[in-house]
Amino acid sequence: TDPVLARAEALITTVPDFPAPGVEFRDISPLLADGPALAAVTEALVAPFAGTFDVVAGLEARGFLLAGYVAARTGVGMLPIRKAGKLPRPAASVSYDLEYGSATIEAPDVLRPGDRVLVLDDVLATGGTLAATRTLLGHLGAEVVGAAVVLELEALGGRDVCGDVHSVFRG
Ligand code: PRP
Ligand code: HPA
Repeated sequence: TDPVLARAEALITTVPDFPAPGVEFRDISPLLADGPALAAVTEALVAPFAGTFDVVAGLEARGFLLAGYVAARTGVGMLPIRKAGKLPRPAASVSYDLEYGSATIEAPDVLRPGDRVLVLDDVLATGGTLAATRTLLGHLGAEVVGAAVVLELEALGGRDVCGDVHSVFRG
């Protein structure tokens, strides 16, 4: 493996009992703060999809950071998928359960016909967020070319819920 990727993986920190007792939270903040690690991880995140997408959809909140980075590096546009109540003109809305609670996500109606969308997020846990995002983008009539996450928590079985997803790291 790439030594920079190996170092990036080691920067992900496990925090016990956050945000609720019993949850082992994987914090990617140290990885985001390291320039070479962030460059290598975002590169690996989108490498399988090179040339196949026109827009990156970022999941609030940490997905925004990844989508912004990728959009700036590749010249594609961005679609923010937001938690309910933040968008002035939500075009679609989907509710779902999280590892620690529940949430509703919304999206604006800004895609152009033919836009190909790649969905980005930091962590795949139960898969509820990504499954809801696919449903949401379906409501918009979007063409979703794939989904990619930095870290897949395999023990939670998320990909059985959300379908195919590319993960840079698994743990
Ligand atoms: C986390 C994470 C993913 C989602 C994964 O976000 O960034 O978006 O949960 O969980 P799932 O696979 O079980 O759905 P969170 O909802 O904590 O939101 P935040 O980024 O706004 O803190
Ligand atoms: N880290 C970040 N986001 C998450 C996690 C986690 O461990 N679990 C569910 N969403």
